Amino acid sequence: MMTEILGIDVGGTGIKGAIVNVKTGELLTARKKYKTPQPATPDEMLKTIEKMVKAFKWNHKPIGVGFPSIIKNGICYSASNIHHSWIGFPLLETLKKEISDKTVLLNDADAAGVGEMRFGIGANRKEDVVILLTLGTGIGSAIFLNGKLLPNTELGQLYFREGVTENYAANSARLKKHKGYKTWAEDLDAVINHVDFIFSPDLFIIGGGVSKRFSGFGKFLSLKYKIVPAQLLNSAGVIGAAYAAHLVFSELKMKS
Ligand code: BGC
Repeated sequence: MMTEILGIDVGGTGIKGAIVNVKTGELLTARKKYKTPQPATPDEMLKTIEKMVKAFKWNHKPIGVGFPSIIKNGICYSASNIHHSWIGFPLLETLKKEISDKTVLLNDADAAGVGEMRFGIGANRKEDVVILLTLGTGIGSAIFLNGKLLPNTELGQLYFREGVTENYAANSARLKKHKGYKTWAEDLDAVINHVDFIFSPDLFIIGGGVSKRFSGFGKFLSLKYKIVPAQLLNSAGVIGAAYAAHLVFSELKMKS
């Protein structure tokens, strides 16, 4: 049984990685972080992922990768905050060929959700419908029903005002358009209320780097009684990617 898996969380701004104990959810190494190359093209991003794997001396070992795109059958189908040439790119096949054939790939927010539901705040909550929103360069989402993930939801792409929700309520929108947390939190509040009306979740989890500042903006959210920050904070994506890989490997083993 493989208990040590390299989790890699690829974002629009940074690429993070650490070795994770998938039994306990603990990070066994310090997290490494590299800047996402700009423009974030397949060639350049793959080089950075490869550099990360090499830095951990983890070639050909088990790896879980969370990536900021809709991922179906290992292929990328969207590119909101990365280069448009990712659309249609066979990422899983490429990673398996060039880095490790023991690679599992999923959307980055789905990975964060999986991590948080197993080892974070979701682990002790039995709510029926849980929605995790990661607020980073974009907005990622992961929806769970009784702990089971509905993959590839894109609540950051819901039409909203003059654009989509992530243009207003991602952390990048706070940095671009707002002076402090309060006015940004008003936009975030409007987005969360909209999502709440559509899905009636029992719990919202806020992830992404800004989740560690939750005490600064949570108080401005009208549904605060059912909104919590991610317990794994910004490591949720790394831990979740590794854990998702573990789940896939265990299932494969059971089938064989
Ligand atoms: C992408 C999602 C991703 C999210 C967080 C959005 O722009 O469309 O796929 O999960 O950013 O990185």
